[in-house]
Amino acid sequence: MKLRTGIPAFLAICCLLAACQGDKTDTEGKTESTGNAAAVQSTAGASDETQTETESIAEKREAENTAELPCLKEIYGTYGMKAGTCLSPEMIHTPAYESLIREQFNSVTMENLLKPEAILNREESRKAGNLVVEFSPELVELLDWTREKDMAVRGHTFVWYSQTPDWIYYEDFDPDKKFVSREEMLLRMESYISQVFGLLDEGGYLDQFYAYDVVNEALMEDGTLRENNWKTIIGDDYLWYAFSYADAYAPDSVDLYLNDYNEQYKPYAISKIVKTLVDENGRSLVDGIGLQAHLYTQDDYYKYFQAVDTLAATGLKLEITELDMSLGTWQQTLEANEENLSLQGERYQKLIAGLIDRIEKGSLSMDAITFWGFADPLSWKSETYPLLFDGNLDPKPAFFGAALEEE
Ligand code: GLA
Repeated sequence: MKLRTGIPAFLAICCLLAACQGDKTDTEGKTESTGNAAAVQSTAGASDETQTETESIAEKREAENTAELPCLKEIYGTYGMKAGTCLSPEMIHTPAYESLIREQFNSVTMENLLKPEAILNREESRKAGNLVVEFSPELVELLDWTREKDMAVRGHTFVWYSQTPDWIYYEDFDPDKKFVSREEMLLRMESYISQVFGLLDEGGYLDQFYAYDVVNEALMEDGTLRENNWKTIIGDDYLWYAFSYADAYAPDSVDLYLNDYNEQYKPYAISKIVKTLVDENGRSLVDGIGLQAHLYTQDDYYKYFQAVDTLAATGLKLEITELDMSLGTWQQTLEANEENLSLQGERYQKLIAGLIDRIEKGSLSMDAITFWGFADPLSWKSETYPLLFDGNLDPKPAFFGAALEEE
C-alpha cells in the first residue's frame, strides 16, 4: 500500500483553482463553498496541460493493473447500495479520473452544476416575469455522460441558503428593490422546482435520477432553523412548501431528501422537523435524510452512530451524501504521515462496516454512500487529505478501509 508523498505540481494547481476559491469557515468547522462554480470554470483553461499529465497517470494505472483493486460499487452493491462520487466537468474531461469513476462508482452528484446559482437565469427571469431555469452546456454534457455511462444521479439541490443568487428574492429580480411577497416567493419556488423536473424529463435524463436533495442545510447545530431569505420571505413553512412542490412534480422513482451537515450534533432536531413534513393525510413528503458526513479522523464515532440510529428510527431512508474524512479535527489538521493515513483507513472501515452492520440487522435502510470526490487534490478540503486516492491516483489506506479491508 503506497503512502501519499506529495501532490504533483499540476494537481496542486488544479486543487488551488478547483477547491479553495471562495471558501469561508462557519461554526463547528463547517466550510461553505461559495465560489466553486467559478473555480471549476477556471480549471477549464488549464485542462490541456492537465490532460497530458493525467493521461500518463492513466497509462501508469493501466500498467499497474489497477483493475485488481477492490471495487466499491460491487462491494456496496452486495448490501443493496450504490457507491457515489460528486462530479465536475474536469473529472469527465480527464481520462484517468473518468476511468477511475467508472471503475469504482455507479452514482454521481453534480458538485456544482445543478445548484441554484448554476441553473437560475436572471435575464430570462426578468423577461418572463418568473424564475427561469436554464441548464448550462456544461451541465448538459455531464448529464449526457451519466446517461451514456449508465450512472445513477442524486439531484443536488433546490432550496439552500448558499450558492443561490440573491436576485431571486426581489421584485423584478432586482436586489435594489423590495423582497417579493410570500405568495410571489411560493410561486417562484413552485415554478423553479417544476421547471427542473420538466427539463430533466425533456432531456431524457429523469430515469437516471433516484434521489433529490430538496432542501439543503436547513438547521443550525443548536437545532434551530437557519435564517435565510426563503425563511424570511415565506416563513418557517418554506420547508413544507419545498417538499410539497417536489412531491407534486417528481416522479415516484425519485426519493426526496432533506440533506444536512454536522448531523451528529442535531439528530433530534432533524427527526423532529421531518415529522412535520407530511401531507394532509399524514403521508411523509420526505423519503430520506441525507447525512453529508464531512467527518474528521478524530471524531467521536460512538456519537456519530448514535445519530445514525436516532435518524434511522424515523423510519425514513438515510443516505451518506458527501462523505469525506479530514485528517485530525476541524481545529487542527494532522500531517499526512503513515500513522495518520493508516488511522484514516481504519476510520473509513469502521464507518462503512458500522452502516452495513445496521443494514444487515434491518435497523437502517440506505440506498447509497456518496463520497465528495475521490482524489485528495480535487477535494474542497484538499489540505486535509480527506479522500480515498492521492494525487497520483494511488489508493490510500482510506480506499482500502472504504472497501472494508481491515489492516
Ligand atoms: C455542502 C454542500 C455541497 C458542497 C459542500 C462543499 O456540504 O451541500 O454541495 O458545496 O458543502 O463543497
